[in-house]
Amino acid sequence: MVLIGFMGTGKSVVGRRLAAVTGRRFVDTDRQIEQRAGKSVAAIFRDEGEARFRERESEVVASLAGQEGCVIATGGGMALRPDQIKELGGIRVALTASPEVILERTKRRRQTRPLLSGEDRAAKIRRLLAERAPYYRLADLAVDTSQMSVDETVRLIQMRIDALEAGRSADTR
Ligand code: S3P
Repeated sequence: MVLIGFMGTGKSVVGRRLAAVTGRRFVDTDRQIEQRAGKSVAAIFRDEGEARFRERESEVVASLAGQEGCVIATGGGMALRPDQIKELGGIRVALTASPEVILERTKRRRQTRPLLSGEDRAAKIRRLLAERAPYYRLADLAVDTSQMSVDETVRLIQMRIDALEAGRSADTR
């Protein structure tokens, strides 16, 4: 299962919980990149630039491709390359949230999100969300986390996946 979505929609925290309740391994692509690089995402952007960060994302995708039984939380920009998301395999779940909620959630640990650093975060969020929304829509299902707790989100994702799988098996009957 692959979680995609904008920064602050809850991919990491929801992914970790989802993995725990379903007995799967949790993988966070940003953390994998940091481990391989030996530095933080922010330091990679600062020292090597965004293009090199995207290459590093591709390297991690290649190393994970085809691994079954994981819950994978991707970085917010990975969905812009749908071929990479496909390469990871599994059901694609998009997490969404309103711009206001994203603004609030990304207040904390601001230095860890280089794309939202500097002035006028609200405008940056709105612009990036507008650019990226069509890519997040490519998922198999989408859940709006704006008003939900982590546990509620996890339960809803499980219900939606069950419904999706029931529908798919009915189609093949
Ligand atoms: C990015 C999102 C970040 C991280 C990097 C770029 C993006 O991940 O991969 O800062 O392009 O939206 P999160 O979505 O986990 O914050």
